[in-house]
Amino acid sequence: MPKKISSFELRPGRKLGHGYVVQSLIGKGIEGEVYEIKEADTGIHRAAKIYFPHCDPRNQRSIRHARKLDALRRCPIVLLYHHSESLTIKGLRTTAMISELCPGEPLGRWIERHSGKRLRPYIALQVLYHLVLGLQPIHRAGEYHGDVHTDNIMIEPRGVGFSLKLVDFYDWGKPAKFKQNQDIRDTINVFYDCLGGRDHYAKLPPEAKYICAGLKHNLIQKRFPNLGKLRQHLEEFQWETVV
Ligand SMILES: Nc1ncnc2c1ncn2[C@@H]1O[C@H](COP(=O)(O)OP(=O)(O)O)[C@@H](O)[C@H]1O
Ligand SMILES: [Mg+2]
Repeated sequence: MPKKISSFELRPGRKLGHGYVVQSLIGKGIEGEVYEIKEADTGIHRAAKIYFPHCDPRNQRSIRHARKLDALRRCPIVLLYHHSESLTIKGLRTTAMISELCPGEPLGRWIERHSGKRLRPYIALQVLYHLVLGLQPIHRAGEYHGDVHTDNIMIEPRGVGFSLKLVDFYDWGKPAKFKQNQDIRDTINVFYDCLGGRDHYAKLPPEAKYICAGLKHNLIQKRFPNLGKLRQHLEEFQWETVV
């Protein structure tokens, strides 16, 4: 097993792989780090997700992740994967997945910048709707995200709507149906987090509570057995509250 490390500590200006230069660290998790990088020849900025060698000793995670992103490359919400690079950092062999640099910021951070660190119900519904629209082609392709939460969604407000990108897909193997149901629950959890979570649940309008369903798995599954049903509900429900 490769040595355990908690950071690659790549400094801005350091060369990376064939023709990239590190700009800054933009994300960090248990399995690796994400850096903004620049292609030296073109000046194009991209993202490099570099796995800690002890988390991905035989490159299986990175390969499965890359294959999944490639299979879903026509879904607009999926971050665009470019290629992988084998690297040696601190004397350790590892893999970097090079992909587009998603615009915007993680949804969790965006929510925190709002007053009361939560979104108004109508805005939260808009975010939920865009997320459902984005996830639908993934589920239609028989796939799933596998780890939908506010830090794996990049958001950029655009005009009257939002541009969303999903990062950090998980490959738990097949069959997918069970994982698709989990995506739906996680999506509703994101909506709940947008609204301020447990502290504000009691005071939410009934339209929002109906969707959250108290976060009860069985009730969510019954109301929204697939994304199509959730989408239909969002497009057609009747307002009782004045927004
Ligand atoms: N392609 C990207 N463009 C911009 N930011 C990204 C990109 N990929 C990841 N990030 C940022 O880095 C963070 C960590 O990346 P992620 O793939 O979720 O790794 P982890 O498995 O550590 O959670 C994300 O929450 C996001 O803020
Ligand atoms: Mg993540």
